Amino acid sequence: MSPTSRTSRAAGALRASRVLWSAVVLLAVTAGVPVAPASADEIISSIARGGRLYDDWRTELQVRERHISHLPKPEIHGAAAAGEGRCVTCHGWDYRGKHGPSGGTEVGIAAAAGGDPERVIALLGDETHGYGTYMDETDLRDLALFVTQGQMIMDQWIHPASRRARGDAERGEVYFQSICAACHGADGMDVTEMPPLGSFSRAQPWHALHIMLNGHPNGSMPPLRVLDPAELAGTLAYMQTLPSRPEIAAVVRGGRLYDTWYEEAGRTVPEGWHPAWPEDRRAEAEAAGGDALARAQRASWRCASCHGWDYRGINGIAIGGSPAPYTGIDGMAGAEPADIAAILTDETHGYQRLLSARDIADLATFVSHGQIDMAPRIHPDTGHFLADAAIYEGHYHTVCATCHGAEGRAVRTMSPLGRAVTSQPQRALHSVFNGHPGEDMPPLRAMGLDTATGILSFAETLPVHKR
Ligand code: HEC
Ligand code: HEC
Ligand code: HEC
Ligand code: HEC
Repeated sequence: MSPTSRTSRAAGALRASRVLWSAVVLLAVTAGVPVAPASADEIISSIARGGRLYDDWRTELQVRERHISHLPKPEIHGAAAAGEGRCVTCHGWDYRGKHGPSGGTEVGIAAAAGGDPERVIALLGDETHGYGTYMDETDLRDLALFVTQGQMIMDQWIHPASRRARGDAERGEVYFQSICAACHGADGMDVTEMPPLGSFSRAQPWHALHIMLNGHPNGSMPPLRVLDPAELAGTLAYMQTLPSRPEIAAVVRGGRLYDTWYEEAGRTVPEGWHPAWPEDRRAEAEAAGGDALARAQRASWRCASCHGWDYRGINGIAIGGSPAPYTGIDGMAGAEPADIAAILTDETHGYQRLLSARDIADLATFVSHGQIDMAPRIHPDTGHFLADAAIYEGHYHTVCATCHGAEGRAVRTMSPLGRAVTSQPQRALHSVFNGHPGEDMPPLRAMGLDTATGILSFAETLPVHKR
């Protein structure tokens, strides 16, 4: 499925969320859980809102820009908390802070469960917290209701060491497929802003359960507090059986993002040059102006422009193209994807503003596991593929000719294939190995490097001129 159809499907599902609410109520009835009366309903919805504020109050209140200047003191609480002031950063998804397995930096709030909401409201205005200026009375009351009445004892439903949900996955399936699948897809993979729900639920079950109880901050998913916790644990157990994405799918998608992320992910490119694009490379396009300038500026945002088609940057071979201005990424082959993701979101790169979490993860997976050594495959002087063209003629006609035509001239948006391959062999190899950004072409990675270089060595023999 293309990224666009996924997005529109999620948007359609968002519109359908009111219908989903009735599904929840209906399920609650059919499951034999009494539907709460109106006033209790209001309390439940306040608690759930408090839970969403606990998760991410800026998103829930739509106040992204506000910074709490005094909270927290970074030397005490760590820099990660400094910009955000999210309750969960300090107190954890299992409400036990650093003492629980879900990861927090401070004490838990479990002791405050069952306590007096007024005390919590006072505490949220104290010197450590100081939320008074950022939230109004209703916000503070909802948070206090969540803290005192809304916490779940997570260990009862999630085994703390194995992270397995203690619930009946078979019964949970019906809840998942009726409430969550509308947006997340039957296999949990349709929301591309996040890792597949299956992997997420195995890695962060407490976070997933908190979301189920309270809903998504500023989102339209109904909070499921009305359901019996056993049903929620069952739903979580079912989610934990959902598939991860096969690594090869992440690698090739990362490769296509490396080629042209805005086409693969269907995003807009910021105006102007990438801030890190070297000054001395700008003059020619700026003199030309118009479309040529716009094209060059767009290209400056592509990974390949700065790091090269053979991933070796300035030290690589760029037959036909201009050499890449920066060091390669080849030194990071095999590195921890998390360390690579940190680079992609650093000040030089800043891609977290332009790409989703899954895009970044796929790029990191590509950098870590997807780079190939092109040097033994392409002659350094002639640029010819070192393979036996004749053997792969049949492959070309089976795999490529459907789009490119028998002579490689059928795709009118590009030069004839014979020319594209001989003029930029490294780029051609990257492209066929990972697939073309935004196109349905099957990537050749699964068939292996011998096949890919073989097909390209045949493609070199195709005509280089348009008819
Ligand atoms: C930067 C870290 C940090 C953030 C963010 C934070 N807290 Fe706290 N919280 C603490 C610390 C430290 C304590 C214990 C010391 C104290 O009470 O002053 C605490 C104590 C508490 C307690 C009392 C726990 C008990 O056992 O009595 C509650 C309740 C609480 N926080 C709720 C919240 C809520 C709700 C939010 C978000 C609106 C929040 N906290 C955000 C650091 C934080
Ligand atoms: C109306 C559409 C919609 C429904 C219904 C929905 N979700 Fe989501 N969910 C999203 C979107 C969009 C995101 C990613 C953006 C975000 O975090 O809000 C998301 C993110 C998540 C996350 C990751 C949260 C994070 O902070 O990264 C979890 C966990 C999750 N959903 C679980 C569920 C479960 C469980 C259900 C069913 C009980 C469900 N969702 C129902 C749209 C939905
Ligand atoms: C406008 C230029 C530019 C673009 C576009 C760019 N980078 Fe970089 N990248 C740099 C610079 C500058 C460095 C720092 C290393 C250096 O000074 O040569 C770097 C470093 C890296 C490193 C660390 C390399 C190492 O061995 O330390 C990785 C990995 C990386 N970039 C990946 C990417 C990916 C993936 C993309 C596309 C999403 C990308 N970069 C886009 C300029 C760029
Ligand atoms: C589903 C259709 C389709 C199939 C199958 C396909 N291509 Fe392409 N290919 C395209 C399109 C469309 C473009 C032009 C993209 C553009 O204009 O940006 C393209 C561009 C290219 C380019 C030049 C651009 C680049 O990124 O390097 C090469 C080289 C190429 N294809 C090689 C192949 C080879 C070799 C095969 C068979 C292994 C193949 N293609 C199979 C549709 C396809």
